[in-house]
Amino acid sequence: MRIRSDRKEGNPIMKKFKTLSAILTSLLFFALITSCGKKEDAKTEEGKAEGSAAVATLSPELEKGKEAFEMNCASCHGEKGAGDGPGGANLNPKPRDYRLPAEQWKNGPTAEGITKTLNEGIPGSGMVPYKHLGDETIQSLAKYVMHLHEGK
Ligand code: HEC
Repeated sequence: MRIRSDRKEGNPIMKKFKTLSAILTSLLFFALITSCGKKEDAKTEEGKAEGSAAVATLSPELEKGKEAFEMNCASCHGEKGAGDGPGGANLNPKPRDYRLPAEQWKNGPTAEGITKTLNEGIPGSGMVPYKHLGDETIQSLAKYVMHLHEGK
């Protein structure tokens, strides 16, 4: 009987070994979990950095101008302002290609010229006035058109 109960308790060295290996296993597990967590963090940090780098190329005002441009103008002037939007294909004169040099513009690729174009339109063409967009939007649109004119 005594021998049996001794066996149940097991060899004290084996017991210690079992406890030790249990500790080691949980340590290993913990290390794995934390290192995975770190990898995940590194990835999200990378993602964040990439995201902010993409956004940082445009100032908030240009970003606003871009949004208004894509909504109101890109259909004729094209996403990059090359005058190749589907809505302008049959127009005569054609929508301005913003990359053209200043001499080929009617009011000019300056803040003043573009503001005039947007407020008054270009009579006798498909370029109608956009005064209803409001001064603030017109100002950011002018900045964005200049940005496209500079080939950015
Ligand atoms: C329906 C098509 C159409 C839309 C939409 C349109 N445009 Fe135009 N745009 C034209 C055409 C056509 C011309 C060329 C007019 C000309 O040469 O007489 C033009 C010319 C221009 C010019 C050149 C002016 C110059 O000095 O020669 C600018 C700047 C311009 N548009 C800005 C815009 C902006 C900004 C928007 C959006 C708010 C816009 N356009 C929306 C058709 C359009």
